[in-house]
Amino acid sequence: MDLMLKDKVALLAGGSKGMGAATAKLLAEEGAKIFLAARGREALDATAAACRDIGVEVGTISADLSTPGPAEDVAKAAVEKFGRIDILINSAGGARGGPFEDLSDELWADAFNLKFFGAMRMVRAVLPTMRKQKYGRIVNVTGNTGRQPHPGLLPGGCANAALLSFTKGLSEAVVKDGIVINALQPGPARTEHWEVLMTNLSQGTGMDVATFEKGFLKLIPMGRTAEAGEMARMITFLASDAASYMTGRSVVVDGGWNKEMA
Ligand SMILES: NC(=O)c1ccc[n+]([C@@H]2O[C@H](COP(=O)([O-])OP(=O)(O)OC[C@H]3O[C@@H](n4cnc5c(N)ncnc54)[C@H](OP(=O)(O)O)[C@@H]3O)[C@@H](O)[C@H]2O)c1
Repeated sequence: MDLMLKDKVALLAGGSKGMGAATAKLLAEEGAKIFLAARGREALDATAAACRDIGVEVGTISADLSTPGPAEDVAKAAVEKFGRIDILINSAGGARGGPFEDLSDELWADAFNLKFFGAMRMVRAVLPTMRKQKYGRIVNVTGNTGRQPHPGLLPGGCANAALLSFTKGLSEAVVKDGIVINALQPGPARTEHWEVLMTNLSQGTGMDVATFEKGFLKLIPMGRTAEAGEMARMITFLASDAASYMTGRSVVVDGGWNKEMA
């Protein structure tokens, strides 16, 4: 199947590691030009080099997207480099968890500042360019906990729910300009974020991380985490014109965890 991604310009927020990096490489394999934004320079350079080795043009910018301001700089830098932005992938993350009584206001604010405000601001920053082009494809990476709440993952789950609502609500307002916006709702995926989360959640349980993770994965009918590439394939599909009749949708990729009917 031709995904029609050749020479499309893709901006990936959180594109240096995990699902974002895996998606950047898949998009590069499909011939898209890649612009990566994240904080750490080393991972940005490594993913950029991997995409260049595939044979496409790449730009990068270091930015903390949990604060107001940088989103505009990121969008401007991508337009300066490539002249347009066809695709935005919001994959910067993620949030910390723990028992409700242990969660500080700061931890709640961190989750919303990055996962909700970070993504919302990136969408706001690219919309003028996409509207001018009369073309845009946006994929917000949310999380299964947005619709399948988990008591140990409340801040990320609530931020994911807000981002899902934003995705669905905005879709109707931008579709007349040729812009579609969808969400990926991932279950557990083996990335740096997942390792941190399992370490974090296992603390105080009396279990080592591996034993805790084994228990957690009993929630998942497939009994395992996904690899980042398994998420990247769905993100790439949603970012492509192969998904041309979809907007305002959330696609669940979670090994069978979520049981809702819609
Ligand atoms: N992995 C899972 O099991 C899972 C499940 C459900 C949902 N999710 C969600 O999926 C998304 C991607 O997660 P992942 O597992 O791929 O995570 P990851 O491997 O840790 O990668 C996260 C990416 O976001 C960047 N990032 C983090 N904080 C940032 C900030 N303040 N400003 C800009 N960039 C930032 C990271 O680079 P720097 O650290 O260098 O900035 C990195 O490129 C997140 O929103 C996460 O919440 C993950």
